[in-house]
Amino acid sequence: MTTATEPQPHYHALNKTPFTTRTAQSNARHLLPYIQPNHRILDIGCGPGSITADLAELVPQGEVVGIDINPDFVEAGIALAKERGLQNLFFRVGDVTTDLANIEPSTFDIVHAHQVLLHLPDPLSTMQQMRRIAKPGGLISSVDSAFKLIIPSNPGILSSEATYEKLSKGNPTFGQTSHITAHAAGFS
Ligand SMILES: C[S@@+](CC[C@H](N)C(=O)[O-])C[C@H]1O[C@@H](n2cnc3c(N)ncnc32)[C@H](O)[C@@H]1O
Repeated sequence: MTTATEPQPHYHALNKTPFTTRTAQSNARHLLPYIQPNHRILDIGCGPGSITADLAELVPQGEVVGIDINPDFVEAGIALAKERGLQNLFFRVGDVTTDLANIEPSTFDIVHAHQVLLHLPDPLSTMQQMRRIAKPGGLISSVDSAFKLIIPSNPGILSSEATYEKLSKGNPTFGQTSHITAHAAGFS
């Protein structure tokens, strides 16, 4: 039993390690041909920022902002920006389900989410916000797993699925239907 004073177990804290090894080349390769050196990019649910930092290197005349609800990840991102000497990379603690609404419309050339929307109880409203804050002609990218549909499975995937089931508030198969949500958010 947990009490109000004990920190709640959190899916993302339990799965911290794999996030730090992700790269733009391996996890956002589809976006790379579209990135221009002066682009402004928002990375929502950026985790500890390894993909975010790679994106910042691709926009030397632009900037990248990473937002995450977990302050430990934001701290790790700030340390990574310092370590890699990236002065165009910024991190903020924030809840994307509420805080995107505070961003001016048409602010970013690219709004990126990697394995985030599948954790949200209402991904449609976040996708609508992602669309609103992207510039006309800008890009929105969301990559999401479809747990239970990964075949063949392996012990690592089964363990991730079990942890997800226990702790996440989203839809574990969101990756299978995200295109339908995108249509509902106004994308054609
Ligand atoms: C599976 S991790 C992906 C992290 C990173 N995008 C990556 O691929 O390495 C999901 C991330 O979303 C963040 N997250 C979950 N719900 C959030 C919310 N409501 N607002 C902001 N970040 C959130 C978690 O803290 C976590 O860092």
